[in-house]
Amino acid sequence: MSAWAANACVQQLQDQPDSVLGLATGGTPLGFYRALVDRYKQGLVSFADAVTFNLDEYVGLDPDNPASYRYYMEQHFFRHVDLLPEHCHLPNGKAADLVAECEGYETAIASHGGIDLQILGIGVNGHIGFNEPGTAFSSKTHIATLAESTRRQNARYFPTPDDVPTEAITMGIDTIMQAKKIILLAFGEHKKPALEHLKSGRISEDFPATILRKHADVTVVYGK
Ligand code: F6R
Repeated sequence: MSAWAANACVQQLQDQPDSVLGLATGGTPLGFYRALVDRYKQGLVSFADAVTFNLDEYVGLDPDNPASYRYYMEQHFFRHVDLLPEHCHLPNGKAADLVAECEGYETAIASHGGIDLQILGIGVNGHIGFNEPGTAFSSKTHIATLAESTRRQNARYFPTPDDVPTEAITMGIDTIMQAKKIILLAFGEHKKPALEHLKSGRISEDFPATILRKHADVTVVYGK
């Protein structure tokens, strides 16, 4: 699963070295990043001209907080490859003006011509990015309140469950839908019901991932 997705990403960069990649964090893409780093070390791909935008970041965490998504990306991907630091974008969850931060993020994506390839995971409640059930399909990058179930699931990355932030900045559903290509990764039995719902449930804001059925180029990659 991870190798397939990494190969698709390598192909994207071979076809268009200055591609804009949309990236995800969490448990699911760890193998994908390992596979990409391997391919970079084998000389199969360069990220020198690529630009990245991550889906989301917690509000209130410093970039050097080990639970922040900036830290995750540095550890698992950025520092192992030839991406230029100024080409690696995540929302700043410590921005003094969070609304301006969201607007600026959206503008920055647009100024790079939009996302060419977006990597997604999926929450068991159907969230993509931190777009929890009930998020408008028309949403752009915004401040999201995390579902309690999401906070519980992500508590493993924090010293105590109470340390999980209640808010995050996330690309909106419409931001994600503007990506030219999407690869959604899902890993493990516990994700199967969400994938079933994505495939055949009613397209509804109550299960955000269902909107992906309206996208022209989505590949869902499932691994056990
Ligand atoms: C991560 C993100 C989330 C995760 C989802 C699945 O940047 O936006 O939507 O993709 O919560 O998380 P894991 O992979 O930990 O099961």
